[in-house]
Amino acid sequence: MGKHELLEMTRSLIDHSKAGTMAQAETVMAIPATDYTDEKLFDTEKKEIFRRLPLMVAPSCELPEPGDYKAMDIVGVPLLITRQKDGAVRAFLNMCTHRGNPLVQGTGNAPRFTCNYHGWTFKNDGALMGVASPKDFGDIDRAAFCLKEFPSLEKAGLIWVTLDPKSPLSIETFLCGYDDLLSHFHFENWHLFESRVLSGPNWKTAYDGYLDFYHLPVLHGNSFGTDFYNRANYFAWGPHQRVATPSSKIRGPEDEEPVDLATMDESEWPEDAIMTGVWTIFPHISIASFYGGGVRGAMISQLFPGESVGDSFTTQFYVMEKKPNDPEVIQGAHEQFEFLKHVVRDEDYATGKRQHEALQSGLMDQVWFGRNEGGGQVFHGWVKKLLNTPDDGLEALFGAERTATS
Ligand code: FES
Ligand SMILES: [Fe+2]
Repeated sequence: MGKHELLEMTRSLIDHSKAGTMAQAETVMAIPATDYTDEKLFDTEKKEIFRRLPLMVAPSCELPEPGDYKAMDIVGVPLLITRQKDGAVRAFLNMCTHRGNPLVQGTGNAPRFTCNYHGWTFKNDGALMGVASPKDFGDIDRAAFCLKEFPSLEKAGLIWVTLDPKSPLSIETFLCGYDDLLSHFHFENWHLFESRVLSGPNWKTAYDGYLDFYHLPVLHGNSFGTDFYNRANYFAWGPHQRVATPSSKIRGPEDEEPVDLATMDESEWPEDAIMTGVWTIFPHISIASFYGGGVRGAMISQLFPGESVGDSFTTQFYVMEKKPNDPEVIQGAHEQFEFLKHVVRDEDYATGKRQHEALQSGLMDQVWFGRNEGGGQVFHGWVKKLLNTPDDGLEALFGAERTATS
């Protein structure tokens, strides 16, 4: 599934490359500069976007084995993700049902968790197993003291959770069919190589950068080089967008010549060559492929709003198609990932932080997105749309997109 759409996009990229064009948005668009600096709006975004929509919380390869778990804090919500004996993933509010102490921290493997406050114990399926000194505590209905569960879905080797136990929006509907496209990475078979956390600017300022190829040869002129195209075509499935260069020449490992799809029969197009570009998952994920050490890898960037309007933090996961054993491949992949740290931290996010400080002067009314920056236009359009959609309108909003987009 999704294969014909991948071929269609590739044809469009090749056609635009031959014509020396790109698909442009209808008009130039402005948004108020305060959209990036307003504390009240920032709180509303956390509530209406991050606490209402499915979020991609982990690549499957971060929790590959039964018993694996990961605790995280997302916009103030303590989350615990566990992999069950049968391989399924479940997600819980990471709060002991006695008095609310977070049950676990970090990552690990455990079939059960004991609260470090008074010693209640829970199974990794959320069931309350044991109350410490039960005779002294008194009678309770244990079934009513399970961990609170969040809706979750594992698809395409990625795990989504909605931080609203009563969410009326199905995660499948939210994905608008985009998961069928993402499944062509086959992430369920990949390996987590390394991860790290970077601090960044306002979450939308940071996300703008992932949706923008316009800046590549300029801001990244010293790192990626100046011969990078600054054009991109944007393909949208609801709010989820793939950003790809209109080119037929696709780069693989450094020591190999780029393949030219325009000279090949479609049936011979390699799958990795039709998955190029940046795959974003609204509202906070970006996925891009690299070949450090000669082996296919991808950086999955997972962005969350921070404490205040000017802060965000990003977990960068470097995942690899095959677990590397060769020390040279390991070193090459490590260097690739270090390079990406430098690019994002010292170029993208450093610029975003300066931009944010300047916008906070309040002396600029609007910021602009050109006809060549359609990705940003779509992203900000969706943020606005979501702030105006009540809970019971979410399913219809995303449901309408599944058939409307191509
Ligand atoms: S808060 Fe967990 S056992 Fe008391
Ligand atoms: Fe960038």
